[in-house]
Amino acid sequence: MTGKENVNIGFIGFGNMAQAMAEGLIMKGTVKADRIYACAKNRDKLNKNAGKYGICGCQSPAEVVEKSDVVIAAVKPYLIEEVLTPVKAALKGKILISVAVNFPFEKFEEFLAPGTHHLSTLPNTPVAVGEGIILCEEQHSLTDEEFGLVKELFESIALVETVDAEHMGIAGTISGCGPAFAAMFIEALSDGAVLHGLSRELSYKLASQMVVGTGKLQLMTGRHPGAMKDGVCSPGGTTIVGVTTLERKGLRSAVIDAIDAVESK
Ligand SMILES: NC(=O)c1ccc[n+]([C@@H]2O[C@H](COP(=O)([O-])OP(=O)(O)OC[C@H]3O[C@@H](n4cnc5c(N)ncnc54)[C@H](OP(=O)(O)O)[C@@H]3O)[C@@H](O)[C@H]2O)c1
Repeated sequence: MTGKENVNIGFIGFGNMAQAMAEGLIMKGTVKADRIYACAKNRDKLNKNAGKYGICGCQSPAEVVEKSDVVIAAVKPYLIEEVLTPVKAALKGKILISVAVNFPFEKFEEFLAPGTHHLSTLPNTPVAVGEGIILCEEQHSLTDEEFGLVKELFESIALVETVDAEHMGIAGTISGCGPAFAAMFIEALSDGAVLHGLSRELSYKLASQMVVGTGKLQLMTGRHPGAMKDGVCSPGGTTIVGVTTLERKGLRSAVIDAIDAVESK
């Protein structure tokens, strides 16, 4: 099997998620742009987007599959079966990766050709800057060598975690919906700062780096988030004033309710 530097990657569908992955892989130097292929529905839009990254635009899913070792299905979940069924014979002998939400291993087994090597994943958009999360469903049909190759590719742009089918949904809510929640928090911090005279530009920069740094500190030290909060709150100080205000306004329960609402949808 080919190594990661010689692998050809093809995207069926080249929208937000596929572009984020391609951008991250190119930016990190994992895969050269001329080894990335993609097709989409609207040919003009595809040409524009392919030109932006220097990747190769294809006419059809069949052309993408023919040219690629790793085929990433990146259309909306309701289109997965429709776009893959016509190429299911050609997918045998390839590595098929899905990024579709709510499309587990078992659902693929219902329509793919028996023996197809496939893996269901859930990436999030920060893969574009090499700081994403890619959840891989525990059950898959890749060989150890193929899974090793995919992991190597993905680890260049994301934290890669294997999750059982039952927990892919909730794990995906944290990693996939989380960027929207974190962005709202960054925007709200900036609004508060602008209210007190800081420029919008500087307040976004400070709030975003604060989120990055706090996340990295937790990941690298494994410290309890509560202990991290306590470490910043000196008795009678300013931070505890903010913390108690957030508690009174229900930040914690609002976040828990948001996750619960997503899971109940
Ligand atoms: N966005 C996220 O944060 C996120 C997170 C986790 C998982 N996902 C999953 O990623 C997948 C893609 O989501 P997205 O946000 O990237 O959607 P998107 O931006 O709407 O992109 C969908 C792509 O599919 C293409 N397409 C539509 N019909 C097609 C066809 N018949 N043949 C080939 N390509 C076709 C579209 O082409 P045109 O633009 O030309 O119509 C577009 O390039 C979904 O399954 C979603 O569940 C997304």
